[in-house]
Amino acid sequence: MKRTIGVCYYPEHWPEDIWATDARRMAEAGLSWVRIGEFAWSRMEPKPGHFEWDWLDRAIETLGAAGLKVILGTPTATPPLWMLNKHPDMLAHDEAGTIRKFGSRRHYCFSHDGYRQEARRITRLMAERYGKNPYIAAWQTDNEYDCHDTAISYSPHAYGAFQDWCAQRYQSPDALNSAWGNVFWSMDYDSFDQLGLPNQTVTEPNPSHVLAFRRFSSDQVVLFNRVQCDEIRKNSQAPIIHNFMGRITSFDHYDVGADLDISSWDSYPMGFLLDRVGATDDDKAHFLRQGDPDFQAFHHDLYRATSNGRWWIMEQQPGPVNWAPWNPAPLPGMPRLWAWEAFAHGAETVCYFRWRQAPFAQEQMHAGLLQPDSTAAPALGDAAQVAAELAELPDVGTAQAQVALVFDYDSAYAWETQPQGADFDYFQMVFDCYRALRRAGWSVDVVPKTVDPSTYKITFAPGLLTVPTSLSGGLVVAGPRAGSKTEELTIPESLVPQIAGLATKVTYVESLPPFAPMSLKGGGAFEKWREAIETDDAVILQLEDGAPAAVRADDMIYLAGWPNPSLWRRLLVQVAQEQGLPIMDLPRDIRIRDTQTHRFWFNYGPKPVMWNDMTLPAAGVHWEIL
Ligand code: GAL
Repeated sequence: MKRTIGVCYYPEHWPEDIWATDARRMAEAGLSWVRIGEFAWSRMEPKPGHFEWDWLDRAIETLGAAGLKVILGTPTATPPLWMLNKHPDMLAHDEAGTIRKFGSRRHYCFSHDGYRQEARRITRLMAERYGKNPYIAAWQTDNEYDCHDTAISYSPHAYGAFQDWCAQRYQSPDALNSAWGNVFWSMDYDSFDQLGLPNQTVTEPNPSHVLAFRRFSSDQVVLFNRVQCDEIRKNSQAPIIHNFMGRITSFDHYDVGADLDISSWDSYPMGFLLDRVGATDDDKAHFLRQGDPDFQAFHHDLYRATSNGRWWIMEQQPGPVNWAPWNPAPLPGMPRLWAWEAFAHGAETVCYFRWRQAPFAQEQMHAGLLQPDSTAAPALGDAAQVAAELAELPDVGTAQAQVALVFDYDSAYAWETQPQGADFDYFQMVFDCYRALRRAGWSVDVVPKTVDPSTYKITFAPGLLTVPTSLSGGLVVAGPRAGSKTEELTIPESLVPQIAGLATKVTYVESLPPFAPMSLKGGGAFEKWREAIETDDAVILQLEDGAPAAVRADDMIYLAGWPNPSLWRRLLVQVAQEQGLPIMDLPRDIRIRDTQTHRFWFNYGPKPVMWNDMTLPAAGVHWEIL
């Protein structure tokens, strides 16, 4: 397969007489794709039922004639003001009950039927008009579900839809009461229409109620997206894509991905570092202009799993963004390195966001490939270099990794609902494990919990809410908190962990403040979380006081705590030896990724790094044939 690059473009932001020059310059820079349309509803349908497609026809024609393939976005993330006059109750409500108003974007509630029909209508009209257009080579549905925390809404429409959802899931109020334990605090319901949303309660709502609402909210996103996919498929053969975001656990990306042909995500490494990686101050300073060395890679591996292996970067940071707490500029070469890391993980296409910096509105401080005056911004050179390199390089393929890491949205909902410790965060726990795997030099497949572990040398599954019996047949490292609850977030009768074959019982759990890690004999520690266990299984690690810290029954290893980095390292060395898997101890700045044919090396550090007789310059990428 030929890997390609592209760019996001907003013809409606610019005078028409510069479109052709823009298109020519894009093609000259080696860009193959251009994404348009995703926020342009007010220009497509300025008044209800009054359409102006001519400008879009001409934009597509101009871009296509320059040799570019167009990704056409549905504009449903930005309903125009008239839509609100038509559907005044379509806005989302936040947890405090405040209505989220017009004046930016994503101002809709996923549960509003009327708006979903409007989304269906505009998508159908676009698909009918452009579905056979030879220049339309892909579609994007909406834009970044949940951006600005919009997946979960507590509106009256969500309220009604949630009651229906519960009626379907539980069939009777008694079944719901007993599944959730509503006898506690007299929370019983007699009918589904009494059931409220789990917000604005005096103290915390029933965690089972919250978990049900999280699942419901995810299903609403899936439904909203599916409506658009259905309309597009009736009229077009081109692949359907949605652009996911980083560290979003408010909906199940596997479920949305099942309706897509290609998953994509929007990668802003420097914004993320300061905004959502959870980095230490030292790491923030060290990686300030490069971004975290593992955060993007994790999402590449995760989203690859959400639509059968086909995935893209739909938006790649080109320079300073506008939305992070601070917005420094990348080291020269980083927009190239980020793209290559994505290709090394199997991305088919990387699109930079955006072509030209807008001189107006919310994102006027956000860099593009061009300055607002159309002169080249630094990243244009990076993009052109990547395009030239792609033209030179034979395809690098994507290999199945030898190591798998389970990421499960249901578990994220559960532990976000019931953290039990201020810093118990499911995403962070999985990500800590991922970082340890990357430091070991391993390429990783992030997988759903339905994975067959016999197809990997080792499968890691930290924090899995419920552990399916199918998660066996290969070496599995599970825990902590694995199999510790029922599907409804109650404690199972047989106590925990509910893992087939394990003769271990958790007698109590403790969450640990940052200043109170618990050391293990032989090195490493548990941080944040620790479980006291009684066991008839083989004890393979012990706390300083001799208490069991990890046990093993055949191919199942159970960790009774949240390992710190040195404990992860210890464990990986042990299992690597057993599995005959070569293991490295990569320096802080260096990462590698293997494909079918190539090994890629990346230097995320601010300075050159000597490693294995090779000097990698700062922001350096090196590849060699395997
Ligand atoms: C993304 C979004 C884009 C733009 C960009 C700025 O989250 O999809 O529309 O806002 O961020 O970095």
